[in-house]
Amino acid sequence: MNSMTSTEIRKIFLDFFKSKQHQIVPSAPMVIKNDPTLMFTNAGMNQFKDIFLGNQPASYKRVADTQKCLRVSGKHNDLEEVGIDTYHHTMFEMLGNWSFGDYFKKEAIGWAWELLTDVYHLPKDRLYVTIFEGDDKEKLKLDDEAFNFWKNHIAADRILKGNKKDNFWEMGESGPCGPCSEIHVDLRNDDEGKKIDGKNLVNAGHPQVVEIWNLVFIEFNRKMDGTLESLPAKHVDTGMGFERLCMALQGKTSNYDTDVFQPLIQFISSLSKIPYSPSAAGKDGMGLIAMRVISDHIRAIAYAIADGQLPSNNKAGYVIRRILRRAVRYGFTFLNFKEPFLNKLVPVLAEQVKDVFPELKSQQDFIMRVIMEEEASFLRTLENGIRRFEDYNEKKISGEFAFELYDTFGFPIDLTQLMAREKNMDIDMNGFKNCLDRQKNRSRAAAIVDTEDWIEPNTTNALSSGKVREETFFVGYDELSCDVEIIKYRKVKSKGKEQFQLVFNKTPFYAESGGQVGDTGRLEASGETMYVTDTQKENNLIIHFVNKLPKDVSLTFRATVDNARRKMIMSNHTATHLMHSALKKILGVHVNQKGSLVNEHSTRFDFSHFSKVTDEELGKIEHMVNEKIRENIALDEKRNVPVKEAMDMGATALFGEKYGDFVRVITFDPSYSRELCGGTHVKATGEIGYFKIISESAVAAGVRRVEAITAGNTETYFNHREEQLTALNELLKHPKDVVQRVQQLMDETHELQKKLEEFTAAKAQQIKMDLLKKIKEVNGIKLIAEKIDLNNADAIKNISFELKNQVENLIFLAGAEVDGKAFLSLIISENLVKEKNLDATKIIRELAKEIQGGGGGQAFYATAGGKNSPGIMNALEKMKLFLN
Ligand code: SER
Repeated sequence: MNSMTSTEIRKIFLDFFKSKQHQIVPSAPMVIKNDPTLMFTNAGMNQFKDIFLGNQPASYKRVADTQKCLRVSGKHNDLEEVGIDTYHHTMFEMLGNWSFGDYFKKEAIGWAWELLTDVYHLPKDRLYVTIFEGDDKEKLKLDDEAFNFWKNHIAADRILKGNKKDNFWEMGESGPCGPCSEIHVDLRNDDEGKKIDGKNLVNAGHPQVVEIWNLVFIEFNRKMDGTLESLPAKHVDTGMGFERLCMALQGKTSNYDTDVFQPLIQFISSLSKIPYSPSAAGKDGMGLIAMRVISDHIRAIAYAIADGQLPSNNKAGYVIRRILRRAVRYGFTFLNFKEPFLNKLVPVLAEQVKDVFPELKSQQDFIMRVIMEEEASFLRTLENGIRRFEDYNEKKISGEFAFELYDTFGFPIDLTQLMAREKNMDIDMNGFKNCLDRQKNRSRAAAIVDTEDWIEPNTTNALSSGKVREETFFVGYDELSCDVEIIKYRKVKSKGKEQFQLVFNKTPFYAESGGQVGDTGRLEASGETMYVTDTQKENNLIIHFVNKLPKDVSLTFRATVDNARRKMIMSNHTATHLMHSALKKILGVHVNQKGSLVNEHSTRFDFSHFSKVTDEELGKIEHMVNEKIRENIALDEKRNVPVKEAMDMGATALFGEKYGDFVRVITFDPSYSRELCGGTHVKATGEIGYFKIISESAVAAGVRRVEAITAGNTETYFNHREEQLTALNELLKHPKDVVQRVQQLMDETHELQKKLEEFTAAKAQQIKMDLLKKIKEVNGIKLIAEKIDLNNADAIKNISFELKNQVENLIFLAGAEVDGKAFLSLIISENLVKEKNLDATKIIRELAKEIQGGGGGQAFYATAGGKNSPGIMNALEKMKLFLN
């Protein structure tokens, strides 16, 4: 039993369910793109949500897979436990099997038992199961069905009842849910087993009595208003924690001791030269915790980046940045990593999972580069934060300061607590929590979207009879106008604005996805017109946004897409494909799409590339695309191609994109551009007219961005340029060569500038000589107070400093008109400042009153400006009187 590797364990699971007629499907991306309720996949069932809800038909009745999950936000958040305990993770693999309206409790329970005990040979006397005890408030009964099925396999006293918290599984605040039955394993040694009966430790947080598998019997949909609605069919959704299963099967007592984590931990240990053993763990065992944190977090970070989520300042990107910082900080503080180190773990991980998740290996360099840049910049912040902490001299750490360290410097509060303990300081934890709550409330208020439940009007339509496949209800590849019925609608309120969302039985409106924005247009019936302001996807539902609801929602409506806008979008989208290929051909095959935005104005394309794209390269890219446009290549569109076939055809697929079993392949010349794409395209490249890159910039470490325009927008762009050039020509009186003429003008200006400077310097010398003649001795002080004719404050300052160096015991006040305003400059020899207690700043403020202005400076030199030029003479007089 102990010899099974994690790779074998995973394979046995999938083979087992294959033998029970399950289709093995790939893991969905960990980063979710089309669901406003979820940022990351947090359970294997997420990708099947629409099948459970009846929004999408199932391609297979039974499926199984291993799913990359991340539980770091929302309802399922394990971040704080990670590393401190031995069995929670941010990223983990969830092994699962599903029935969509097919088998139910009996088979789910029977097969789970068979796999665990007959195939994996887990000892039966170490297993416990739980069933749902029911809930009066929700009017839910005890799950005696599950109890009876379990009784066929396990003694009744090992079947424990659990409450709603543990035994009624819900995906989030809303969505599919149902009672569940969990399987727990007791991994303690016999002696400990004798002391306390394992069943008392089930669901009690014991690190060696842990849940390994959850069988959920999905029957309900939790609605937005909190009520439960029965689903049309019953489904099975199971999830087994892969890392915990490995712990149980490899005879370990910590997930981190399995071969899933050991290669990473050993690497960290050799890098830090600290063994992964309690004796070397340092104070409070923090060294061990740090190694666990790092080996866990690197997985979350690497998989997220591979799926296209770069660390950033908001939403999913911010979650990843925080995880990364948590890992860096643990390494910095407890393993003495002062230089970037996390990125070095990527090859170890990529090698480990190359057969299951090849996306890490194929993007290894890119992932490392992104992580390294993030680490380097955070390490700088971290050092500043630590310095701030060391300079903090209060007796108690205020909540605000702890929050500043948390928010600005990325210090999790447990780090601040540790550092505080070392300095024998307390932290105002209540104050910290208040700051945190205030921040959370602020972001919640900013993000609040109030969504009501869907209402289904009484129309008969193809979708609700379950006949329609996803591809058939978007008809907008072929037509831009058609008759539709509303099958669902609901009200949403976002930032105080009320809108309605409509779902039709079919639609010509393209919903935002794959970087292409949603269509806009009109909805009309019996003289009433509603404007569709946007079209979005929520999982597989196409949602149309309108500002008002039709008077009668049960009518048949004419839905029409804004044709001109859509045409521009198509032109930009096809240009994006042509550009993508050109980038690969000119810059190299390392170029991978990292994001795109295609709208009616332009196409914005982000891609992996490590240096600035030079003007010469941009020129070549532009040229290649324009050649392809002139070739007027016809669109070759193939729908419903089996995904494997499409890949064999050499189609470019994007990392982190979720593809179904059947895909659409868009080709413009099979030897030039072939991509998996759901977007809309021109019929032939000639429609694009002309392609022009308008900017190139950096977006993140290793990611460049190019923005380009096409068709009518290029015409407008060039017309504008042309107008500018014409105006310039006119201004310069139509020279033969406008560039040469401008260069000549610039040279002339430069010459004149130089001459002016020389002239000013000569004049200043002359003035200085004259001033020296005007020195008056008053009480041992040499005073010059004169108006001078020099329109240059810097030159006056220079004269002042030169005079001070030349004349001892000097007070020099100059008045001048500079750019039409009064200007005063006062310099005093340093010895006078000290001996006579004089202060130029104070004096100039007094004098500035005469010119109706103000001033300031230092004790030995100050200046003032004012609007009253005639007052200059008064100021000079005042200075003379002051000394008498
Ligand atoms: N959805 C359930 C869970 O995540 C079982 O897969 O625990």
